[in-house]
Amino acid sequence: VPSMHADLDHAATTPPRPEVLEVLERWMPAANASARHLDGQAARRTVEESREQAAAALGCTPHEVIFTSGGTEADNLALKGVVWAARAAAGDGAAVHLVTTAVEHPAVLEPARWLAARGDVELDVVAPRGDGRIAVDDVLERVRPTTVLVSVMGANNELGAINDVATLGARLRERGVALHVDAVQCVATRDVSLDAWHADALAVSAHKVGGPQGVGVAVLRRGLAVEPLAHGGGQDRGLRSGTFAVGLIAACGMALERAVAERDALAARLQQLSDRLAAGLLRIEGVTRNGPLDAAHRLVSHVHVAIDGVDGDALALALDEAGIAASSGSACSSGAGHASHVVEACGIAGTPLRLSLGWTTRVEEVDHAIATLASVVPRLRDGGPAFGLGLRPVNAAGAG
Ligand SMILES: Cc1ncc(COP(=O)(O)O)c(C=O)c1O
Repeated sequence: VPSMHADLDHAATTPPRPEVLEVLERWMPAANASARHLDGQAARRTVEESREQAAAALGCTPHEVIFTSGGTEADNLALKGVVWAARAAAGDGAAVHLVTTAVEHPAVLEPARWLAARGDVELDVVAPRGDGRIAVDDVLERVRPTTVLVSVMGANNELGAINDVATLGARLRERGVALHVDAVQCVATRDVSLDAWHADALAVSAHKVGGPQGVGVAVLRRGLAVEPLAHGGGQDRGLRSGTFAVGLIAACGMALERAVAERDALAARLQQLSDRLAAGLLRIEGVTRNGPLDAAHRLVSHVHVAIDGVDGDALALALDEAGIAASSGSACSSGAGHASHVVEACGIAGTPLRLSLGWTTRVEEVDHAIATLASVVPRLRDGGPAFGLGLRPVNAAGAG
């Protein structure tokens, strides 16, 4: 059993904040928020207060907040909802066009491809620059008279590359084209704002900012035509039918409010911790950092490196044995798996490793990761077992 646990996978999910768990527990046994009786009214008040918290956190009005089951549903609602509404408005046979990027989360890329495959939309997928960022001009070049939506993430979940969505939003608004921003990875450390970004839709997820899994927000600008994914009781402007999940919604509102209140302090703290982590890792031979070189263009929560000559599966096992939770991809050449679409789109060589930090991260965890990798990487590269506990020897010649 590892003597220490280091959770360096906050980009995947974050531990819930205690005050969020309290709210969740308080409102899990809630009345139906659409019921007329007093208990229903109390539940409804909680939903509406949470909506106000979310709106304040996301630079929009409460009316523009739709509670969803998370980031994935919010992304799907924006893409399918806007495309289907535009098709209905354009009339039979008229083309509608969608632009997105090759480094989006599958929650955007997969619905985009699915819509294109069934003939609902013509799709353009913009390639990133080598550092994972999307150039505003590369997107604008793809815009056509039939473009109904552009979807570009605020920051990439693997590389932490930050996109200039505010400039993009301003340019698109001049042309009358709607912008959807997957802001899931931004909320913890960056200002997120529908208004400041001139965006028409946002996707946000509570579990990336100390909230529970299974709840998030789709921000949909007033006036944006959106077809719902689910039809039923007509809750949330008819855009998201289903009994309000009062406990999850209250927890989501609280998590967003806390995340925004503590954002500047957290960002300053994580800047120091991720600098320390990156510096420690870059002292190891054969380790290079990926993503934007300019710190202003990358999330302070993410450190993404490539490790030369080390098998991805062996690395993952070694990290597990050391009690470190991180996101390690298999190098393509190991034959054990596929590089992620982001790593591939950016032409990154070597075994990728993402370490991501968040509100609970302590310096001890960072130092444990540095010490572990400094000792494990040379041993794995020499083809030796990491800790001798069930690790098979790795053929260094065939890896990386
Ligand atoms: C950029 C991005 N978009 C969308 C999602 C999906 O969010 P959720 O897990 O709430 O469905 C995630 C997280 O997995 C993400 O990192």
